[in-house]
Amino acid sequence: MKKPPKVRAQSTTPAQSGYHTRMNDITPQGTIDTATGKTAPAELSTERVKTIFSTIARKYERFNAISSFGAYRRWLGGMMNQAPIRPEHDVLDIAGGTGDVSKYVARTKHPAHIQLTDLVPEMLDVARMHKARGAFGSTPVDFDVVDAQDIPYADASYDVVTMAYGIRNMPDRPRALKEMHRVLKPGGSLVCLEFSTPPNPVWRALYNVYLKHLIPFWGGLITGDRDGFVYLAKSIRAFPDQEGLAQMMRDAGFTDVTWKNYTGGIAAVHVARK
Ligand SMILES: C[S@@+](CC[C@H](N)C(=O)[O-])C[C@H]1O[C@@H](n2cnc3c(N)ncnc32)[C@H](O)[C@@H]1O
Repeated sequence: MKKPPKVRAQSTTPAQSGYHTRMNDITPQGTIDTATGKTAPAELSTERVKTIFSTIARKYERFNAISSFGAYRRWLGGMMNQAPIRPEHDVLDIAGGTGDVSKYVARTKHPAHIQLTDLVPEMLDVARMHKARGAFGSTPVDFDVVDAQDIPYADASYDVVTMAYGIRNMPDRPRALKEMHRVLKPGGSLVCLEFSTPPNPVWRALYNVYLKHLIPFWGGLITGDRDGFVYLAKSIRAFPDQEGLAQMMRDAGFTDVTWKNYTGGIAAVHVARK
């Protein structure tokens, strides 16, 4: 059963639709270079991310598994433990990539429907391949190319938004978080897995060495795209810590923001409520 996207309102204004507030109608905010955190035109980060993920799409999962020494799976498991997803829920997976989060949601939560979205069509092509092989079981899953900073769906249309390693790659994070808040139903939740900052200084120093030297080495070896992994390491180092991300979520309108650290704070799962 193909579930149609909720709203495709490229030319619709809030006054015309009566219920859907497009971010294009809201005062634009500053954008950053996601590799440095410094002010820069959005196109810089957007074009880079499109190039990187369209190039590595087919090798992305192998790299993830190897570079995190398997911790990636544990973090996804932790994300599922914290995700308040019930069988009647409609779930929106933002920056869903090749579909790992959606697969875990489908297998562990069996929601009514998952909308698996990403900016890069090549990543979604891999996810579609997984679907063809039955990776999502009996859970209905639909795919859509979506920029999280301008989500083409109606207000209050999803019960839970999931996002893993997505927000760090977005040049206008406040806008993306506001969009996720907008499409959630009142009482709905955002569940966000992202790299973060280990609070212990010794662990943090070791991790920084790993990021700076080993990640580009491993990434280059496995995917042939060393530059993509130099970017990955830089973007992780430039990303706000746990409290910084929590505050961004509060600023976007979320409440009850909590987080749990994994592997000493290398990754964190934030849960926030609308
Ligand atoms: C590191 S991958 C994570 C994919 C998947 N969530 C996972 O856990 O394997 C980051 C993904 O974010 C996507 N992305 C980057 N910027 C985006 C944006 N503005 N809107 C939607 N997706 C975006 C990329 O295309 C890429 O697939």
